[in-house]
Amino acid sequence: KYLVTGLARKKVLLSIAKADIPPHGALVYKQSRVAVTRGNDRITAISLVCTHLGCTVTVTPREFACPCHGSTFDRQGRVIKGPADRPLAHLPVEDRGDHIVVLA
Ligand code: FES
Repeated sequence: KYLVTGLARKKVLLSIAKADIPPHGALVYKQSRVAVTRGNDRITAISLVCTHLGCTVTVTPREFACPCHGSTFDRQGRVIKGPADRPLAHLPVEDRGDHIVVLA
């Protein structure tokens, strides 16, 4: 007999040494369209795909800004200004000791 958990295996998108993540900045992975940020010792991976029509948002020190129609998002990905009406997606992050992996 087999136990079926129904959990899909997630793919490792990025593997990053914790020491490379700046304390209050962001690492930007343009090809994967992901920003990895650290705030209050919490590491977050945010998708750079705008939730309006899918353009790639740019990262500024304070926010994410979409060049296509002007949406802006705060550092947690919450909408500051539309037309986007949904926050940027957060990707799962797994702690693996001295590094983290971002899953897709
Ligand atoms: Fe980003 Fe339209 S695609 S605001």
